[in-house]
Amino acid sequence: MGRQVGPFEEGDILDGARLQWVIETYRPIAVLHFAAVAYVGESVTDPSKYYRNNTMGSLSLLDAMRAGGVRDIVFSSTCATYGVPPALPISETTPQHPINPYGASKLMVERMLADFGAAYGMGFTALRYFNAAGADPDGDIGEDHTPETHLVPLVLDAASGRRETIAVFGTDYDTPDGTCIRDYIHVTDLAQAHVLALNALRAGASSDVYNLGNERGFSVREVIAAAERATGLTVPI
Ligand SMILES: NC(=O)c1ccc[n+]([C@@H]2O[C@H](COP(=O)([O-])OP(=O)(O)OC[C@H]3O[C@@H](n4cnc5c(N)ncnc54)[C@H](O)[C@@H]3O)[C@@H](O)[C@H]2O)c1
Repeated sequence: MGRQVGPFEEGDILDGARLQWVIETYRPIAVLHFAAVAYVGESVTDPSKYYRNNTMGSLSLLDAMRAGGVRDIVFSSTCATYGVPPALPISETTPQHPINPYGASKLMVERMLADFGAAYGMGFTALRYFNAAGADPDGDIGEDHTPETHLVPLVLDAASGRRETIAVFGTDYDTPDGTCIRDYIHVTDLAQAHVLALNALRAGASSDVYNLGNERGFSVREVIAAAERATGLTVPI
Protein backbone atom coordinates (compact mmCIF):
# COMPACT_ATOMS: atom_id res chain seq x y z
CA MET A 1 0.00 0.00 0.00
CA GLY A 2 1.45 3.39 -0.96
CA ARG A 3 2.16 5.84 1.79
CA GLN A 4 2.24 9.58 1.86
CA VAL A 5 4.73 10.72 4.44
CA GLY A 6 4.87 14.41 5.26
CA PRO A 7 7.88 16.26 6.61
CA PHE A 8 8.82 15.62 10.23
CA GLU A 9 9.24 18.61 12.53
CA GLU A 10 10.41 17.85 16.03
CA GLY A 11 9.22 20.05 18.86
CA ASP A 12 7.60 20.28 22.26
CA ILE A 13 3.86 20.87 22.35
CA LEU A 14 4.47 23.16 25.33
CA ASP A 15 6.38 25.45 22.96
CA GLY A 16 3.59 27.67 21.63
CA ALA A 17 5.84 29.62 19.26
CA ARG A 18 7.10 26.41 17.67
CA LEU A 19 3.53 25.13 17.24
CA GLN A 20 2.49 28.42 15.70
CA TRP A 21 5.37 28.20 13.23
CA VAL A 22 4.47 24.62 12.28
CA ILE A 23 0.81 25.49 11.79
CA GLU A 24 1.56 28.61 9.76
CA THR A 25 4.14 26.75 7.66
CA TYR A 26 2.11 23.64 6.84
CA ARG A 27 -1.52 24.81 7.26
CA PRO A 28 -2.69 21.36 8.50
CA ILE A 29 -6.32 20.46 7.88
CA ALA A 30 -6.52 18.77 11.29
CA VAL A 31 -4.45 17.49 14.20
CA LEU A 32 -3.90 13.93 15.39
CA HIS A 33 -2.64 14.42 18.94
CA PHE A 34 -0.64 11.49 20.37
CA ALA A 35 2.02 13.34 22.38
CA ALA A 36 2.04 12.43 26.06
CA VAL A 37 4.03 10.86 28.82
CA ALA A 38 2.28 7.63 29.68
CA TYR A 39 3.79 5.73 32.59
CA VAL A 40 1.09 5.19 35.19
CA GLY A 41 3.54 4.48 38.03
CA GLU A 42 5.67 7.53 37.27
CA SER A 43 2.53 9.67 37.19
CA VAL A 44 1.91 8.76 40.84
CA THR A 45 5.43 9.71 41.95
CA ASP A 46 5.77 12.75 39.65
CA PRO A 47 2.27 14.11 38.94
CA SER A 48 3.63 17.55 38.10
CA LYS A 49 5.28 16.12 34.98
CA TYR A 50 1.98 14.60 33.87
CA TYR A 51 -0.23 17.63 34.40
CA ARG A 52 2.39 19.89 32.79
CA ASN A 53 3.18 17.73 29.79
CA ASN A 54 -0.15 16.07 29.08
CA THR A 55 -2.68 18.61 30.30
CA MET A 56 -0.84 21.92 29.84
CA GLY A 57 0.78 20.59 26.68
CA SER A 58 -2.63 19.83 25.23
CA LEU A 59 -3.90 23.27 26.24
CA SER A 60 -0.92 24.79 24.45
CA LEU A 61 -1.76 22.73 21.36
CA LEU A 62 -5.46 23.65 21.45
CA ASP A 63 -4.59 27.34 21.79
CA ALA A 64 -2.20 27.09 18.84
CA MET A 65 -4.91 25.37 16.77
CA ARG A 66 -7.39 28.10 17.65
CA ALA A 67 -4.94 30.85 16.79
CA GLY A 68 -4.02 29.12 13.54
CA GLY A 69 -7.60 28.36 12.51
CA VAL A 70 -7.31 24.55 12.70
CA ARG A 71 -10.70 23.20 13.69
CA ASP A 72 -10.48 19.44 14.08
CA ILE A 73 -8.50 17.23 16.46
CA VAL A 74 -8.35 13.51 17.18
CA PHE A 75 -7.03 12.93 20.68
CA SER A 76 -5.40 9.85 22.23
CA SER A 77 -7.36 9.37 25.41
CA THR A 78 -7.22 6.25 27.51
CA CYS A 79 -9.14 3.62 29.41
CA ALA A 80 -7.21 4.97 32.43
CA THR A 81 -9.78 7.79 32.55
CA TYR A 82 -12.33 5.26 33.86
CA GLY A 83 -10.46 4.07 36.94
CA VAL A 84 -12.10 1.03 38.54
CA PRO A 85 -15.33 0.48 36.59
CA PRO A 86 -18.48 -0.37 38.56
CA ALA A 87 -19.52 -2.93 35.92
CA LEU A 88 -18.18 -4.61 32.79
CA PRO A 89 -18.00 -4.13 29.88
CA ILE A 90 -16.81 -0.53 30.12
CA SER A 91 -18.86 1.63 27.76
CA GLU A 92 -18.36 5.26 26.78
CA THR A 93 -20.99 6.24 29.36
CA THR A 94 -19.26 4.45 32.24
CA PRO A 95 -18.45 7.16 34.83
CA GLN A 96 -14.86 8.39 34.61
CA HIS A 97 -13.06 8.34 37.94
CA PRO A 98 -9.34 7.98 37.20
CA ILE A 99 -7.25 6.49 40.00
CA ASN A 100 -3.89 7.91 38.94
CA PRO A 101 -2.55 11.26 37.70
CA TYR A 102 -1.94 9.87 34.20
CA GLY A 103 -5.65 9.09 33.77
CA ALA A 104 -6.60 12.40 35.39
CA SER A 105 -4.24 14.35 33.12
CA LYS A 106 -6.02 12.83 30.10
CA LEU A 107 -9.54 13.26 31.48
CA MET A 108 -8.82 16.98 31.90
CA VAL A 109 -7.95 17.15 28.22
CA GLU A 110 -11.27 15.51 27.33
CA ARG A 111 -13.01 18.21 29.40
CA MET A 112 -11.02 20.92 27.63
CA LEU A 113 -11.98 19.47 24.26
CA ALA A 114 -15.67 19.56 25.19
CA ASP A 115 -15.39 23.13 26.47
CA PHE A 116 -13.36 24.33 23.47
CA GLY A 117 -15.89 22.64 21.21
CA ALA A 118 -18.79 24.43 22.88
CA ALA A 119 -17.09 27.81 23.09
CA TYR A 120 -14.95 28.00 19.96
CA GLY A 121 -16.58 25.48 17.61
CA MET A 122 -13.66 23.04 17.59
CA GLY A 123 -14.43 19.54 16.37
CA PHE A 124 -12.92 16.63 18.28
CA THR A 125 -12.87 12.89 18.59
CA ALA A 126 -11.44 11.47 21.81
CA LEU A 127 -10.38 7.87 21.33
CA ARG A 128 -10.07 6.04 24.62
CA TYR A 129 -7.61 3.28 23.83
CA PHE A 130 -7.37 0.17 25.88
CA ASN A 131 -3.95 -1.55 25.75
CA ALA A 132 -2.21 -0.94 22.45
CA ALA A 133 -0.24 -3.93 21.20
CA GLY A 134 1.35 -5.27 18.06
CA ALA A 135 3.52 -3.91 15.30
CA ASP A 136 3.00 -2.75 11.75
CA PRO A 137 2.64 -5.97 9.69
CA ASP A 138 5.38 -4.94 7.26
CA GLY A 139 7.83 -4.98 10.17
CA ASP A 140 9.06 -1.41 9.69
CA ILE A 141 7.78 -0.06 12.98
CA GLY A 142 7.08 -1.74 16.28
CA GLU A 143 6.92 -1.00 19.93
CA ASP A 144 10.14 0.49 21.31
CA HIS A 145 9.93 2.07 24.75
CA THR A 146 12.61 2.79 27.30
CA PRO A 147 11.82 1.66 29.90
CA GLU A 148 9.55 -0.98 28.39
CA THR A 149 6.51 -1.57 30.60
CA HIS A 150 4.04 -3.13 28.18
CA LEU A 151 3.23 -6.80 28.55
CA VAL A 152 3.54 -8.09 24.98
CA PRO A 153 7.04 -6.72 24.24
CA LEU A 154 8.20 -7.78 27.71
CA VAL A 155 6.95 -11.32 27.14
CA LEU A 156 8.61 -11.48 23.72
CA ASP A 157 11.86 -10.13 25.17
CA ALA A 158 11.76 -12.85 27.83
CA ALA A 159 11.00 -15.52 25.21
CA SER A 160 13.92 -14.45 23.01
CA GLY A 161 16.39 -14.06 25.87
CA ARG A 162 16.69 -10.27 25.62
CA ARG A 163 15.58 -10.23 29.24
CA GLU A 164 15.93 -13.01 31.77
CA THR A 165 12.39 -13.28 33.06
CA ILE A 166 9.01 -11.63 33.05
CA ALA A 167 7.43 -10.74 36.40
CA VAL A 168 3.73 -11.47 36.82
CA PHE A 169 2.30 -8.80 39.10
CA GLY A 170 -0.42 -10.57 41.09
CA THR A 171 -1.85 -14.08 40.91
CA ASP A 172 -4.81 -13.59 43.24
CA TYR A 173 -7.02 -11.34 41.14
CA ASP A 174 -10.66 -12.36 40.93
CA THR A 175 -10.15 -13.88 37.47
CA PRO A 176 -10.24 -17.49 36.20
CA ASP A 177 -6.44 -17.93 36.41
CA GLY A 178 -5.81 -15.30 39.08
CA THR A 179 -3.81 -12.95 36.83
CA CYS A 180 -4.84 -9.52 35.67
CA ILE A 181 -7.16 -9.28 32.65
CA ARG A 182 -6.77 -6.48 30.12
CA ASP A 183 -8.32 -5.63 26.76
CA TYR A 184 -5.69 -5.38 23.99
CA ILE A 185 -6.10 -3.61 20.67
CA HIS A 186 -3.79 -3.96 17.69
CA VAL A 187 -2.01 -0.80 16.56
CA THR A 188 -3.22 -1.29 12.99
CA ASP A 189 -6.81 -1.16 14.24
CA LEU A 190 -5.95 1.91 16.30
CA ALA A 191 -4.42 3.58 13.26
CA GLN A 192 -7.48 2.77 11.16
CA ALA A 193 -9.76 4.22 13.84
CA HIS A 194 -7.84 7.50 13.65
CA VAL A 195 -8.29 7.68 9.89
CA LEU A 196 -12.01 6.95 10.25
CA ALA A 197 -12.36 9.55 13.01
CA LEU A 198 -10.48 12.16 11.02
CA ASN A 199 -12.51 11.56 7.86
CA ALA A 200 -15.78 11.63 9.82
CA LEU A 201 -14.88 14.93 11.50
CA ARG A 202 -13.87 16.42 8.16
CA ALA A 203 -17.19 15.26 6.70
CA GLY A 204 -19.08 17.11 9.45
CA ALA A 205 -19.65 14.41 12.07
CA SER A 206 -20.28 15.81 15.52
CA SER A 207 -17.64 15.59 18.23
CA ASP A 208 -17.70 12.38 20.23
CA VAL A 209 -15.75 9.87 22.29
CA TYR A 210 -15.12 6.20 21.49
CA ASN A 211 -13.61 3.31 23.36
CA LEU A 212 -11.05 1.42 21.29
CA GLY A 213 -10.70 -2.15 22.46
CA ASN A 214 -11.67 -5.59 21.22
CA GLU A 215 -14.30 -6.17 23.94
CA ARG A 216 -12.58 -9.31 25.11
CA GLY A 217 -10.07 -9.41 27.91
CA PHE A 218 -7.00 -11.64 28.07
CA SER A 219 -5.18 -12.53 31.27
CA VAL A 220 -1.44 -12.15 31.74
CA ARG A 221 -1.11 -15.94 31.73
CA GLU A 222 -3.13 -16.19 28.50
CA VAL A 223 -0.86 -13.61 26.82
CA ILE A 224 2.24 -15.52 27.95
CA ALA A 225 0.78 -18.82 26.69
CA ALA A 226 -0.10 -17.23 23.34
CA ALA A 227 3.46 -15.91 22.99
CA GLU A 228 4.84 -19.37 23.75
CA ARG A 229 2.57 -20.92 21.10
CA ALA A 230 3.47 -18.29 18.50
CA THR A 231 7.24 -18.40 19.07
CA GLY A 232 7.68 -22.04 20.06
CA LEU A 233 9.84 -20.73 22.92
CA THR A 234 9.44 -20.88 26.69
CA VAL A 235 8.82 -17.65 28.54
CA PRO A 236 10.67 -17.71 31.88
CA ILE A 237 8.42 -16.29 34.59
N1 LIG B 1 0.15 2.45 24.38
C1 LIG B 1 -1.04 2.31 24.98
O1 LIG B 1 -1.45 1.20 25.36
C2 LIG B 1 -1.92 3.51 25.17
C3 LIG B 1 -3.17 3.33 25.77
C4 LIG B 1 -4.01 4.43 25.94
C5 LIG B 1 -3.59 5.68 25.49
N2 LIG B 1 -2.36 5.83 24.93
C6 LIG B 1 -1.97 7.17 24.49
O2 LIG B 1 -1.56 7.08 23.15
C7 LIG B 1 -0.55 8.07 22.87
C8 LIG B 1 0.65 7.39 22.26
O3 LIG B 1 1.12 6.40 23.16
P1 LIG B 1 2.36 5.48 22.87
O4 LIG B 1 2.14 4.21 23.56
O5 LIG B 1 2.67 5.51 21.41
O6 LIG B 1 3.46 6.26 23.71
P2 LIG B 1 4.95 6.67 23.33
O7 LIG B 1 5.61 7.10 24.61
O8 LIG B 1 5.58 5.63 22.49
O9 LIG B 1 4.72 7.94 22.41
C9 LIG B 1 4.43 9.20 22.93
C10 LIG B 1 5.20 10.23 22.12
O10 LIG B 1 4.86 11.53 22.58
C11 LIG B 1 6.03 12.32 22.55
N3 LIG B 1 5.86 13.42 23.50
C12 LIG B 1 5.68 13.37 24.82
N4 LIG B 1 5.58 14.61 25.34
C13 LIG B 1 5.72 15.46 24.31
C14 LIG B 1 5.72 16.88 24.20
N5 LIG B 1 5.57 17.66 25.27
N6 LIG B 1 5.87 17.43 22.98
C15 LIG B 1 6.04 16.64 21.89
N7 LIG B 1 6.05 15.31 21.92
C16 LIG B 1 5.89 14.73 23.13
C17 LIG B 1 7.13 11.36 22.96
O11 LIG B 1 8.38 11.86 22.54
C18 LIG B 1 6.72 10.09 22.23
O12 LIG B 1 7.26 10.06 20.94
C19 LIG B 1 -0.26 8.75 24.21
O13 LIG B 1 -1.00 9.93 24.26
C20 LIG B 1 -0.79 7.75 25.24
O14 LIG B 1 -1.19 8.40 26.43
C21 LIG B 1 -1.51 4.77 24.75
